[in-house]
Amino acid sequence: MSHRKTLDVLKGETVFPPPIWMMRQAGRYLPEYKATRKEAGSFLDLCYNPDLAVEVTLQPIRRFGFDASILFSDILVVPHALGRDLRFEEGRGPLLTPIDASGIAKLDDGGFHDHLAAVYETVKRLRKELPDETTLLGFCGAPWTVATYMIAGHGTPDQAPARLFALREPEAFAALIDMLADVSADYLVRQIDAGADAVQIFDSWAGVLDELSFDRWCVKPVARMVERVRAVHPETPIIGFPKGAGAHYAGYRRLTGVTALGLDWTVPLGTARRLQAEGAVQGNLDPLRLIAGGDALDEGVDAIVEALRHGPFVFNLGHGITPDTPIEHVEAMLKRVRETV
Ligand code: CP3
Repeated sequence: MSHRKTLDVLKGETVFPPPIWMMRQAGRYLPEYKATRKEAGSFLDLCYNPDLAVEVTLQPIRRFGFDASILFSDILVVPHALGRDLRFEEGRGPLLTPIDASGIAKLDDGGFHDHLAAVYETVKRLRKELPDETTLLGFCGAPWTVATYMIAGHGTPDQAPARLFALREPEAFAALIDMLADVSADYLVRQIDAGADAVQIFDSWAGVLDELSFDRWCVKPVARMVERVRAVHPETPIIGFPKGAGAHYAGYRRLTGVTALGLDWTVPLGTARRLQAEGAVQGNLDPLRLIAGGDALDEGVDAIVEALRHGPFVFNLGHGITPDTPIEHVEAMLKRVRETV
């Protein structure tokens, strides 16, 4: 046992009331985030400015006292560090120049860690400034999810451009995925070196692939990353979050080697319990219940806590909190998770 509850649970301890944090807990639902974001200029300026990135990471910890804190950055700083251009436009999300086979062949990881030095500095400062009992999480995107944005150049409803590219040009796509897996694993290693207690791999678009492609582009690359991180940091928990993976959740922990499983809100709680028999689970409140509040929120929280309280369990949302969520609802959720018997 350590003095950090989230870390203990990720390693397999049962703790009650469960530790709690929220995906995207630093974000636009907080007025203090919006103020710092304005001061920073662009979203990327915020990601690469350790003073301000530390500040926005700490904001939800100060306000709510979450048990875990997640580094403020974005999954798309990885392609940016590989020399791809990246911008964020208000209301449009990320925009990149779409990459093709010749672009993939030219990717250069030479300046990768220099480009990300500010992120490592942010992690280092966070571990010093956070309360001692707060678990610090590092993160990155899974190769598949990062690749979907690199191929399309923007978000799409079903990632058809990347799916089609992978089917038509599997060798070029494999080269992209392999490179992303290796640099992303090294990126996580550096975050752990800098002080992260555990890391989460976000595979937000795992839910759009058929079985063959899921195995090839989601499972295998994450397994490759886990092996590479473990070779350096064998004790550090790794949370896998294959959002939307449905029936593929069943073998995901065994096949990838991740320590803990992040569950999206569509995973039934009976399934969640079976997954919990093999190790920690994290999740999985529908973020819309948090927007709605009231009975919709209470019944959602109660069902999850009741189902998962007897094993290693970190309370979280099933995906990120959205800007339209009332702060009072976050407070109500915390109170219910922490004070309901
Ligand atoms: O959770 C946290 O508080 C840490 C910070 C974090 C951000 N992005 C900050 C962010 C994390 C962990 C991410 C991960 C991320 N980024 C994912 C995986 C998780 C998920 O949500 O599925 C993905 C797919 C991205 C790519 C991305 N970044 C998109 C699609 C968008 C636009 C959507 C939006 O909400 O505007 C972003 C922008 C982004 N990343 C914002 C924040 C706080 C909002 C931009 C802003 O503040 O102007």
